[in-house]
Formats: sequence, C-alpha cells, structure tokens
Amino acid sequence: MATAAVLTAAGSGTRLGLPGPKALVELAGVPLVVHAARRLAASGVVLSVVVTVPPGRASGFRALLGGPVRPGIGVPVTVVEGGGSRQASVAAGLAALGDDVDVVLVHDAARALASPALIRAVEAAVRAGHRAVVPGLPVADTIKQVGAAVDGAAPVVATVPRATMRAVQTPQGFDRALLDAAHAAGADRAADEATAATDDAGLVEALGEQVWVVDGEESAMKITTTRDLAVAELLARP
Ligand code: C5P
Repeated sequence: MATAAVLTAAGSGTRLGLPGPKALVELAGVPLVVHAARRLAASGVVLSVVVTVPPGRASGFRALLGGPVRPGIGVPVTVVEGGGSRQASVAAGLAALGDDVDVVLVHDAARALASPALIRAVEAAVRAGHRAVVPGLPVADTIKQVGAAVDGAAPVVATVPRATMRAVQTPQGFDRALLDAAHAAGADRAADEATAATDDAGLVEALGEQVWVVDGEESAMKITTTRDLAVAELLARP
C-alpha cells in the first residue's frame, strides 16, 4: 500500500494579476508547482503525484513535471486536466490514482513552500488511524460571522471564540476510501464555484465523519496576491 498526492494546480493567476496559470508563476526562479512537487517528493512518504492543471495546458505542465521520475522531483508525476472548481479538479486527480494507493494527500500548488516535515506529519497522523487530517494555525484576528451586506455594512450574526478557531492549510490527508466516498457524495456541488467545497475536509465533514487538525506552519501559507508572493520570496531565501 502507498501514499500518493493530488496536487491542485488548475487555478488561474487572476488575483496575481497574471494571464497564465498561477502554478507556473516563479518563486526564487522556480515555478510554484515545481516547488510543491519537490517538497512532496522530499517528504519521503509520497511515492507518486497527480497534478491537476488548467484545461488545454496539460502538454506544457507535462514538459515541466511529467514522466516516470524527473531529476529534481524524485517521484513519478502524472498530469491531468482539472475542472471548473477546485473540488472538480481534485475529483479528476483522484480518478487518476493508482490501485495501490490507500492514503491520499491533497495539496495546493499555491502552498508551494509547505515543508517536507509538515507533509510527513499529516501522513503519519492518517497512518496512525485519523482518517481525515488537516494542518491548521491559530488565528490572530477575532472572527465574526456576518449576514448579507446592506448599503455597505454587513450585520454580525455571531462571534466565535477565537481560541477555538484554526485557519486550515494543505496538505490535507485522508484514507483514500473515505475521500473517494466524500467526493462521490458531494459530486453535485462540484460544477458550480458557488456551491463547490473549498477544501476536501469539508466534504468529509458533510458525510458526518470526524476530521482532525494537527499543527500547521507559516510557510504553508497560500500564495494568492502579489503581497503573498513577496512574503514567499522572503521565506524561500536560504
Ligand atoms: O483559487 P484558490 O486559491 O482557492 O485555489 C486553491 C488551489 O486549487 C490552487 O492550487 C489552484 O491551482 C487549485 N484549483 C484547481 N482547480 C480549480 C481552481 C483552483 O486545481 N478549478
């Protein structure tokens, strides 16, 4: 039995103000998706990676990552086209996993600097019997739930005690059968960005199954804006 990763890279670079796929944006001279794939391989626990890429861009990503084992990455990478939502992209990635895979880590290429140690910790927690595991960090801000804004002001519905909150990252680790079941049960949500799950753990929760949080790390930050990219450049310095 083996652990594999689905690496989501099918998003656009719109919020970075760039025309192409965000996963190809370079950080310290290396595309985000290559950073992420290298760290998954360097964990030593991920034996293969399926990368989901924007429709029509598979050949370019294959040239960068695909094939049996590429020097500098270290594990075989399969490239598949993603869908119109992150959830749909992950579903496409799951469908391409090998039969021997029993644990799956779902990871965002946008979290390019998540460390091999974090990847190992999530995988180990799944192997230890927690069937759904996410890394999370305490939040610095007080978080309020709000209703629909009226004239530019949104009514507060509730204030959730901050100490109980975690900002959740990837990689998220799962027993493969559980994740497959969660995606099958939530498949009708995948087509529309408005209803699609923004993380895989949410689909597992919707099944009524327990999800567990382990300690996340600052370097697993999601690179979304040019500011994030500048911060990541600082974190990536040797
Ligand atoms: O858009 P967002 O930043 O939430 O995307 C998180 C991750 O999901 C990124 O790595 C992005 O490439 C991926 N994604 C995807 N397919 C989509 C949308 C996003 O694989 N349709």
